[in-house]
Formats: sequence, structure tokens, C-alpha cells
Amino acid sequence: MSKIGVFDSGLGGLSVLKELRKILPDEDYIYYADSINVPYGEKTDEELLELTSKIVDYMIKEDCKLIVIACNTATTSCMLKLREKYPDIVFVGTVPAIKVAYDYNYKDTIILSTPYTTKSKRVQELIHDYKRDDQNLYLVSGENLAGLIEEDSKEEIDKVLERILGEYRGKVDSIVLGCTHYSLIKEEISRVLPNIAILDGCVGISMEVKRQLENNNLIGTGTGDLTIINTKSNSLVKRSYEILNDK
Ligand code: DGL
Repeated sequence: MSKIGVFDSGLGGLSVLKELRKILPDEDYIYYADSINVPYGEKTDEELLELTSKIVDYMIKEDCKLIVIACNTATTSCMLKLREKYPDIVFVGTVPAIKVAYDYNYKDTIILSTPYTTKSKRVQELIHDYKRDDQNLYLVSGENLAGLIEEDSKEEIDKVLERILGEYRGKVDSIVLGCTHYSLIKEEISRVLPNIAILDGCVGISMEVKRQLENNNLIGTGTGDLTIINTKSNSLVKRSYEILNDK
């Protein structure tokens, strides 16, 4: 088995793939964006398990040795079930980087996630494990932001960000991006909330993938080859390459 499979409900997981390719340039990758079904953050657990199983089946058929669930929503909802269903595959998931805010001792932190992740038990567990006694955490739902990012609706994105985050201006020192799509709009977020730390899990996840490859003796000798699948359109494949190349 040779490739690393990375999937998300859409383009968001490209933020993870970008870091992965820096840390592991000699691996070959498949990126699978389920853009026809975005947003995952508004689906049920049953729907999410069905959609993600379909992607995992495809990735196994395509010879993937490790699968990165580059989606907080899918990780929160299905990672344990997928591990049970596919015991021979190594999965690495994504959860909001609340621990990073803890490690860096931030005091007033927004956790911005999809509606699903915001309400999830997993986020409550992370808060329980990593919230400092003297830290204020503000859980904010990103509403339909993931969908707007897919559509590249710049004006709408700015409006939603102002509406949901504007009230925190001057009151917080950090924001955790609990949805991989939001890592694609860091500039827009910092315009609404200037001079605060923007935290995501992209580097942490990539380091974890490296550790898992080493521990499972799976380090590859590929050529950095990349295949991008988008379930909605070829123009989104083109945009994916532009995002990866920072255009
Ligand atoms: N990018 C995803 C996440 O990290 C999902 C966004 C969505 O489809 O709602 O949660």
C-alpha cells in the first residue's frame, strides 16, 4: 500500500494537505473533496457515516495506507466507528486545537466550529481536559461559513464573520479554528479580529501522520504525486490546485 488519503467535505482539508506535503514531501497523496455534500456540519451521524464510509472504500481501493480525516465534523462524528469498521487502516483525525490554546496560555479564546462540532460531546471533552481555570472560552458556531468558502462568496463571508465575531473585537487574545475550511480564510478573520492568535491543528495533524507512518513502518518513498478528486466539479479541482499554490 502506498498512498496517503486525505478527505474532507470539500476544500477545507487542503489546509491540512498543504502542511502534510511540507512535512512529508516524499509521500504520494489522494485528496478527496466531497463538495457535492458540503456542509457536513449540518448532517446527522448516520448520514456522515454513510458518506465517509464511501470515501474510505474508495481510498482503500486506490491503495491508501493511511487516511487523514481532514474534517473536524467527520472526525467528531465517525472516527471511532470508522476505526472499528476498517481495523487494518490507520486513521488520523482532526479536532479543534483547544490544547494548543492551553499550551500557549491564552486567556480569552473563541472556538469557532461548524454547528455539528460546536454542539458535540467531543468539544466538551476537550474543554474538560484543556481549559485553564483562569481561561474564558467562547463557543461560536460558524453557521453556513463552510458552504460560503466553497462558493468563494467573499462579501457574504465578510458579513457572516462580522456578525458572529464582531462582538469579540478587543475582548479575546486567540481563536481556535475548529473547522478546516476556516483555515482558508485566516486573513478575513484577522481583519475582523486584528492582532490575536489564530490557531489551527494543521501542523499538529501533519506531525501526527509522520509519527503514525514511522510507528507502523509505513514511511513511503514516493515522488510527492497528488491526485485530487472533487465530487462536485472540475472547476473545484482547479481551484484546489490554486489554493495549494497560494493563488
Ligand atoms: N471542513 C469541515 C470541518 O473541519 C467541515 C465543514 C462542513 O462541511 O460543514 O469540520
